[in-house]
Amino acid sequence: SMSRTTNLLLTLITISIFPFFTNGALQPQHQHAHDGGCIPAERAALLSLKEGITSNNTNLLASWKGQDCCRWRGISCSNRTGHVIKLHLRNPNVAPDHYGYHDACADASALFGEISPSLLSLKRLKHLDLSMNCLLGTNSQIPHLLGSMGNLRYLNLSGIPFTGRMPSHLGNLSKLQYLDLGYCPAMYSTDITWLTKLPFLKFLSMRGVMLPGIADWPHTLNMIPSLRVIDLSNCLLDYANQSLQHVNLTKLEKLDLFNNYFEHSLASGWFWKATSLKYLDLGNNRLFGQFPDTLGNMTNLQVLDISENWNPHMMMAGNLENLCGLEIIDLSYNYINGDIAVLMESLPQCTRKKLQEMDLRYNNFTGTLPNLVSDFTRLRILSLSGNNLVGSIPPWLVNLTRLTTLELFSNHLTGSIPPWLGNLTCLTSLELSDNLLTGSIPAEFGKLMYLTILDLSSNHLNESVPAEIGSLVNLIFLDLSNNSFTGVITEEHLANLTSLKQIDLSLNNFKIALNSDWRAPSTLESAWFASCQMGPLFPP
Ligand SMILES: *[C@@H]1O[C@H](CO)[C@@H](O)[C@H](O)[C@H]1NC(C)=O
Ligand SMILES: *[C@@H]1O[C@H](CO)[C@@H](O)[C@H](O)[C@H]1NC(C)=O
Ligand SMILES: *[C@@H]1O[C@H](CO)[C@@H](O)[C@H](O)[C@H]1NC(C)=O
Ligand SMILES: *[C@@H]1O[C@H](CO)[C@@H](O)[C@H](O)[C@H]1NC(C)=O
Ligand SMILES: *[C@@H]1O[C@H](CO)[C@@H](O)[C@H](O)[C@H]1NC(C)=O
Ligand SMILES: *[C@@H]1O[C@H](CO)[C@@H](O)[C@H](O)[C@H]1NC(C)=O
Ligand SMILES: *[C@@H]1O[C@H](CO)[C@@H](O)[C@H](O)[C@H]1NC(C)=O
Ligand SMILES: *[C@@H]1O[C@H](CO)[C@@H](O)[C@H](O)[C@H]1NC(C)=O
Ligand SMILES: *[C@@H]1O[C@H](CO)[C@@H](O)[C@H](O)[C@H]1NC(C)=O
Ligand SMILES: *[C@@H]1O[C@H](CO)[C@@H](O)[C@H](O)[C@H]1NC(C)=O
Ligand SMILES: *[C@@H]1O[C@H](CO)[C@@H](O)[C@H](O)[C@H]1NC(C)=O
Ligand SMILES: *[C@@H]1O[C@H](CO)[C@@H](O)[C@H](O)[C@H]1NC(C)=O
Repeated sequence: SMSRTTNLLLTLITISIFPFFTNGALQPQHQHAHDGGCIPAERAALLSLKEGITSNNTNLLASWKGQDCCRWRGISCSNRTGHVIKLHLRNPNVAPDHYGYHDACADASALFGEISPSLLSLKRLKHLDLSMNCLLGTNSQIPHLLGSMGNLRYLNLSGIPFTGRMPSHLGNLSKLQYLDLGYCPAMYSTDITWLTKLPFLKFLSMRGVMLPGIADWPHTLNMIPSLRVIDLSNCLLDYANQSLQHVNLTKLEKLDLFNNYFEHSLASGWFWKATSLKYLDLGNNRLFGQFPDTLGNMTNLQVLDISENWNPHMMMAGNLENLCGLEIIDLSYNYINGDIAVLMESLPQCTRKKLQEMDLRYNNFTGTLPNLVSDFTRLRILSLSGNNLVGSIPPWLVNLTRLTTLELFSNHLTGSIPPWLGNLTCLTSLELSDNLLTGSIPAEFGKLMYLTILDLSSNHLNESVPAEIGSLVNLIFLDLSNNSFTGVITEEHLANLTSLKQIDLSLNNFKIALNSDWRAPSTLESAWFASCQMGPLFPP
């Protein structure tokens, strides 16, 4: 056929110009490499691998034809030897959720089939990424043959929904630096001591793999001092209060233990001794009690997430003076009883100046926000919703010029909405609903150009709505409901809001007087104008 002739021609051209470009000095040492830069036995192995795979994603394996397998999509060869050293067949169109679920076998963009034993012919393979595909073979288990690929440095099988016991023969891959077995929620293990045979391991993820009853897991990990990242979130680990005399993990930067239900005191966790940590996620673990004094030794910490532990007695204690690197702190959903001023004032100056996100939503903090003139100037996200805060919106917020999200809803805040909020021109989300605010919306809000979410519902706002609200052209969500707003809402308020998806103006005292030819934006999904919903207002 025509295309075969063209292929042959191209191959001949490639072969004939190859020596020209390689310029003698760069001639591959290996004889095989002359053959279009690809070793024939390895090309055959790849074609055999391809035979075991079906795909609706025509882009991926369609390039797997012709002589030079080194140019096939997802394949890299050594420039020196011509051997295939990298096989990257990751399904790129995937976003697993926080809990680790993604069903690759229900994903049309995935590869389907089996991991063929022909892979064993790729003896120099260093990098293998088959993640997020449905390559389950006949028994749905991680194939034993992978335990023989002793040259691998990088193995990514994440999101392949293997079932059954995690094979200990992966411990044969003694050169491994990266092992990603995350998002395989139907796999389990009762013994992970084989990991200690991987002395170069830097990255380990078993996110979502069931590991109940493994009592010695911190001891096992402590035998691998090369580790930099450990992700054992969503693993059903029983507890993390094992005592480690000496923590070997001096290079550990990231530890993610989210969602394991440890149910012991926060202070008894072994991880407080891993002082090199930059990122620590202990969310959703039913950890109780106060922070330990050893927190003061965690001087490298940048991200601390202890959210969703339902721990009313958690409170920053101990020596925080050295936590100067902290950028993100998330203590949301703990129902912490305490004075907000005590918490904020316990953060040292150096931390206040660095912090970018402070999430204290859904606690039981009381009191008024302290006056901390011009501190927290790097803050981008401030979430204090769902607490018992009183007093007015504090004036020092005006200096938080980088703020993009300000959430203060469901508190007992009083006073009016300050006009200087209009100076926070980076804000994209402003939620002040369910408070006791009075007065109006300041006309200065017209400067908040990037605002997409404005929720002022369920307050006591009792004046008219300024026309300047009509210049918030990026608004997607606008809720002014359940207030006592007066005056008239006209086209001027709404005509320029062409991105709106949801608007709720119900339960107010204003009149809505729109011209009969007024058209709602085509983006609108729901609109409540009176006390009854208008339904979708799609224009023709
Ligand atoms: C091999 O050569 C290509 C093209 O010259 C270059 O882009 C690539 O980085 C080289 N790879 C290695 C591992 O040296
Ligand atoms: C491929 O697409 C066809 C039709 O679009 C569909 O019927 C089939 O189930 C898909 N196959 C896979 C493996 O997703
Ligand atoms: C493994 O692949 C997934 C995507 O499929 C990616 O998110 C993850 O970062 C990879 N793991 C490593 C260690 O590179
Ligand atoms: C893995 O190593 C064990 C010894 O630890 C050996 O018995 C086994 O055959 C090896 N498995 C593979 C698949 O190479
Ligand atoms: C530290 O790691 C080494 C292996 O590198 C191991 O021999 C030693 O037992 C470990 N120490 C502890 C306290 O686990
Ligand atoms: C660790 O916590 C568990 C509860 O999850 C508890 O039963 C056990 O006694 C604790 N062990 C230590 C050493 O504190
Ligand atoms: C942590 O700091 C305390 C003093 O706050 C000190 O006694 C202890 O030795 C430190 N621990 C480590 C592991 O550095
Ligand atoms: C929250 O605080 C209030 C008042 O201080 C108290 O009555 C209530 O019991 C607290 N709630 C919880 C869950 O601790
Ligand atoms: C804002 O910062 C400036 C400069 O640091 C300071 O003078 C001013 O008092 C601050 N304003 C408020 C309300 O804290
Ligand atoms: C807000 O910005 C205006 C200039 O746009 C400035 O005059 C005013 O002082 C600022 N308000 C505060 C409280 O910083
Ligand atoms: C709005 O309510 C506040 C506080 O109750 C009151 O002082 C003010 O006069 C009211 N404004 C209007 C226009 O009713
Ligand atoms: C709406 O847009 C028009 C045209 O850009 C402009 O003249 C008008 O001032 C805008 N209205 C408001 C309330 O910003």
